[in-house]
Amino acid sequence: DLAVQTALAVNGGWLLVIDAQTLVVNVGGSYRALTSVCTHTGCDRNWTFSSSKFICSCHGSEFDTSGNVLQGPANQPLKSFTTSSSGTVLTVTK
Ligand code: FES
Repeated sequence: DLAVQTALAVNGGWLLVIDAQTLVVNVGGSYRALTSVCTHTGCDRNWTFSSSKFICSCHGSEFDTSGNVLQGPANQPLKSFTTSSSGTVLTVTK
């Protein structure tokens, strides 16, 4: 519910949904969703986001908001998921 998850309201706002192993980010008013399972060795919750990059602090891999690797040690992209929104309900389809 975007009315509750207010962090997602602004461009660059992001959210880690630990239970669903999903990262969600607002990119210019649209939403992207990626797996939070790092393709390096599988850390799923040690994420930060800055300068439009997701950073896995387990070993420092960096990914863009489409999941592409910007810096290793990871060498595979994060899987991305489809998003759709209706009113304040954002749906992520895995
Ligand atoms: Fe993410 Fe190693 S598990 S960088």
